[in-house]
Amino acid sequence: MNNEELLEIARQARQNAYCPYSGFHVGAALLDENGNLHIGCNVENAAYAQVSCAEAGAISAMIASGGRRIAAIAVAGGDKSSTCACTPCGGCRQRIHEFSDENTRIIVEDDDSERHTYTMAELLPSSFHLPR
Ligand code: THU
Repeated sequence: MNNEELLEIARQARQNAYCPYSGFHVGAALLDENGNLHIGCNVENAAYAQVSCAEAGAISAMIASGGRRIAAIAVAGGDKSSTCACTPCGGCRQRIHEFSDENTRIIVEDDDSERHTYTMAELLPSSFHLPR
């Protein structure tokens, strides 16, 4: 599956976002080390702090079905009608980091629908991890 196909699946997941408070719809689609696909969308709550980001949902789905490494994750965000740049938030960068390696691709598109692919080291330099 190429970057554009993965991004298209993220856009579809974005359609199901539950975000009545922000109006900002986010979808994520990831491929795990076995080539299995997992999706997530943001899920908000009247108690605002209980929001679950799209990336967190996709990662939970991956873990629950036995996947452990993220080969690629695409994120699509925006209001109801259009997509805009949605690089993962700080917390989600750490979440992705937990299950990534140097080959993991993080795919987003900017306001002009141009695709950008990042590595984890680009999005989260000097990252936190426990002593190995
Ligand atoms: N959001 C995500 O789902 N992922 C991100 O990486 C950034 C933010 C969601 C959370 C909230 O529902 C909405 O976008 C606005 O912050």
